[in-house]
Amino acid sequence: SMSALRERCDALHDEIVAGQRGAVDRQHALGKLTARERLDLLLDEGSFVEIDMYRRHQIHGLGMEKRRPHTDGVVTGSGTINGRRVFVCAQDFTIFGGSLGEAHALKIQKVMDLAVSTGSPFIAINDSGGARIQEGVMSLNGYGGIFQRSVQASGVIPQISVVLGPCAGGAAYSTALSDVTFMVHDTAQLYLTGPDVVEAVTGQRVTHAELGGAQVHGTRSGIATFVHDDEESCLKDVRYLLSLLPANNLETPPRLPGRDAAADLRPRLAEIVPAEPSKPYDMRAVIGEIVDDGEFMELHEAWAANVICALARIDGEVIGLVANQPMVLAGVLDVAASQKAARFVRFCDAFSIPLVTLVDVPGFLPGTDQEYAGIIRHGAKLLYAYCDATVPRIQVILRKAYGGAYIVMDSRSIGADLSLAWPTNEIAVMGAGGAVSVLHRRELAAAPDPDALRAELVADYTRQLMHPHHAAERGLVDDVIDPVHTRSALARGLAMLRDKRRQPVPRKHGNLPL
Ligand code: COA
Repeated sequence: SMSALRERCDALHDEIVAGQRGAVDRQHALGKLTARERLDLLLDEGSFVEIDMYRRHQIHGLGMEKRRPHTDGVVTGSGTINGRRVFVCAQDFTIFGGSLGEAHALKIQKVMDLAVSTGSPFIAINDSGGARIQEGVMSLNGYGGIFQRSVQASGVIPQISVVLGPCAGGAAYSTALSDVTFMVHDTAQLYLTGPDVVEAVTGQRVTHAELGGAQVHGTRSGIATFVHDDEESCLKDVRYLLSLLPANNLETPPRLPGRDAAADLRPRLAEIVPAEPSKPYDMRAVIGEIVDDGEFMELHEAWAANVICALARIDGEVIGLVANQPMVLAGVLDVAASQKAARFVRFCDAFSIPLVTLVDVPGFLPGTDQEYAGIIRHGAKLLYAYCDATVPRIQVILRKAYGGAYIVMDSRSIGADLSLAWPTNEIAVMGAGGAVSVLHRRELAAAPDPDALRAELVADYTRQLMHPHHAAERGLVDDVIDPVHTRSALARGLAMLRDKRRQPVPRKHGNLPL
């Protein structure tokens, strides 16, 4: 009868949702939540619509025909975050260690396709032993299909990876292909080849955490964009990030009501930044004064900290901030900083997030380490990303902006729409000391009192080339502003540029210096 059938279906449904008791307890004992508990935290209450709950593998051999759990080790579907549609997959470590076989992969691919066709963000929660060994090449084929979709969806919908357990081998590439990767301390492990293989091949003994823990990827490799202590705060941050992003490339980020920022004076700005060009200060304090509620979300906080990349709002409008950090390595650009900022600029441009660049940069980090590591190529990534960006772009020069680093940090010459400078701005090929040494090497060597001559020459260079209006007189800076007016000038600038459109010339694609 109908009611008996319904009861049977309900019973199976509840059984699948409850999971295997022992396995769920083991997952908790590992300090991890289950896939469904994670989705409960990630999504608005009661919003989850599951797809493919009953799917199971059709594999024979190696005893697999006797073990055919529903879901096949991944929970997939859709839900909302702050009322906005997203698609999700959450790997279930309690089933085959969350390993990925054919059915598991096809489930993920199905929701990725729906995310693209509906123009919704895609969030993948990773907790998996990798390719399902019993399914052999079909597992590898499954990963390939996921990667192919991820690349096609890149720049169309935001793609977010959340690593809350192992994510090894080929699976690791799904994180690198997404826009943003979250990791948690202790339980997340992300690497191409595990400790056993490392030891067998190289003889090096290394723990899971040393090889691919959140600490390592948050500070050394830059693979993790955000690192958290626990799953709750991590998933909460995923929700927050999504509140700053559009659903897809045809939309703009969600706007909050205006804050009267155009009339908001910030006297503290004039105190935070010392006038002496090389005296350090914390650029985050400057950002805190400029953005709404002093609130900003820093990407890669502990990697390449000499440059800051952050999402925030000004007057309710989402912006992407790129800023030199004079407190770390004097704010120079190096390989890691270039990679970090380049990818961020590209991300903002793809998702219609206007760019605000705060400049206080002494130049690129000199030395063989950097040159051998290909700083020319990596610095060119940042240059390329800016040159290619069509979103509204505003540059603010706080103090020094020297040489190639000045050009790269979104100067007007590479397409900034508006360049503002503080009275402390020093835009030049190099600082006064360096310039005088090059220009007057012989005279200085021959002078009876080289120090006095040097001081005189430095003063002369500074007077002629480094006064606050030198660049503004030449149109490289649009306005010289009082620091106190920075927030209001940015609010006005963003409002002015809101309808900016720039159609690139058709081509297959550029050849960016990867
Ligand atoms: N394929 C099939 N089953 C897998 C698997 C895989 N790749 N990875 C884990 N599992 C299964 C285990 O056999 C175990 O099954 P059981 O509960 O029926 O005994 C279950 O998942 C849990 O794994 P276990 O090893 O007990 O968990 P752990 O927390 O001690 O270790 C890993 C987790 C991921 C480190 C470990 O399982 C591992 O090294 N897996 C293989 C990783 C790998 O090399 N994958 C291929 C790379 S592409």
